[in-house]
Amino acid sequence: MNDALDYARANQEHFVGELIDLLRIPSISTDPAYSQSVADAAGWLTEALRDIGVKDAAATETEGHPIVTGEVHVDAALPTALVYGHYDVQPPDPLDLWNSPPFEPMIKDGLLYARGACDDKGQLLMHLKALECWMRTTGKPPVNLKFILEGEEESGSASLSDFIRDHKDALAADIVVISDSSLFAPGIPSITYGLRGMAYVEITLTGPDRDLHSGTYGGAIHNPINALAALIGEMHDANNRITIDGFYDDVRSLSESERSTMAALPFDAEAWAREVGVETPRMEAGYSVLEASTVRPTLDCNGIWGGYTGDGAKTVLPSKASAKISMRLVPDQDPEEIAGLIEAWLRKRVPDSMRLQFRSLHGAQPVLVDTGSAAMTAASKALNDVYGRDPYFTRIGGSIPVVADFKHLLGLDSVLMGFGLDSDAIHSPNEHFGLDRFAQGIEAIVRFHAHYASCAGSA
Ligand code: BES
Ligand code: ZN
Repeated sequence: MNDALDYARANQEHFVGELIDLLRIPSISTDPAYSQSVADAAGWLTEALRDIGVKDAAATETEGHPIVTGEVHVDAALPTALVYGHYDVQPPDPLDLWNSPPFEPMIKDGLLYARGACDDKGQLLMHLKALECWMRTTGKPPVNLKFILEGEEESGSASLSDFIRDHKDALAADIVVISDSSLFAPGIPSITYGLRGMAYVEITLTGPDRDLHSGTYGGAIHNPINALAALIGEMHDANNRITIDGFYDDVRSLSESERSTMAALPFDAEAWAREVGVETPRMEAGYSVLEASTVRPTLDCNGIWGGYTGDGAKTVLPSKASAKISMRLVPDQDPEEIAGLIEAWLRKRVPDSMRLQFRSLHGAQPVLVDTGSAAMTAASKALNDVYGRDPYFTRIGGSIPVVADFKHLLGLDSVLMGFGLDSDAIHSPNEHFGLDRFAQGIEAIVRFHAHYASCAGSA
């Protein structure tokens, strides 16, 4: 292993150069205007895998964006880890808030700034580079490795479930390994064992059949923006609980031991709020900031539009108003059921003066993974080697839709070993990744492979 680690240290600058190349490709999955760039990123990764020695690396077309796969089979007696990552990125908007262009990577004070630097190009490349460290020194990794890299994670992973269903044998493994989450805090590692799910819907209210003069008609025509705002306002009560009928029915309550474990984590709620410029956090009554932001369900309006939003004033009474609403779900809520509940809730309340259009955009199942596997032990040891302390086991508020698919379709648990930080500004302007963490991640993954070979052998 030492040769592989030496190789990692000697080639760090080279690895950063490659990450910069990958970050230059604007692989924004949600916007059709960028689909060629998404395909270019898939091509880049396929080539990168082949260069490392993954001879069968290939990008498979789907109805959405390509899925990149490849395999290094060493020995049937060794365990197999399936590495998942996503090479698509969120849109960079609002562009004017970036200090440097999002697809022209820039290094400042040890941080690499670019869209996707942390989420997830920087983190997925660590897995390729860790494999390279083995291939260029001992000639093979100490475990069998498979890769599945997708280009639709940020827009709901629509093609991935079918792909997994159709390639069950090719994807067979003992564990999934993913780096698309965060450290608990700088220098404090964690392994994520729970992710929230998601139900994402879009609603439009239509009142009059065209925009109207708000003087001629105002006062006697119901305004769709006013009506939509009222409905959205009604979705939470004074305790900040969600009022959709049946919303909490399937929410598993937290055990006392889970609550006390969370309460004992060194989490500074005030600093957390201050870091985003907020004086006071606001959460569901009876829950801590950490609970509310990781293990309780949410409902948030992600966008709202209608009427005139340009410069100056226009006295218009709009015909339509729309909103995008996402709900983060926790075990055992089901995305389709929740989308059905909010639709029923809206249909019951929509005023006679309005027509409602309702669309469910995508969903993801919430998930909890087994923390007792050999791979978890191996990951803990690897993180301890690098950070000098055992990782915390934590649940996070974000979603990685495929984790539930791996569980339900392949029967596989995932080890979520992430190296981001909440402050890396993923999905925000000025996303960045610490080059120290990029190096630590590669080292931890190399060490994970070695520990997993021996933990699984002795299990
Ligand atoms: N890498 C994130 C998940 C994540 C978020 C990990 C926050 C750690 C902290 C992932 O790429 C992501 O953003 N997923 C989407 C999925 C959604 C579109 C279904 C999310 O959580 O919004
Ligand atoms: Zn991600």
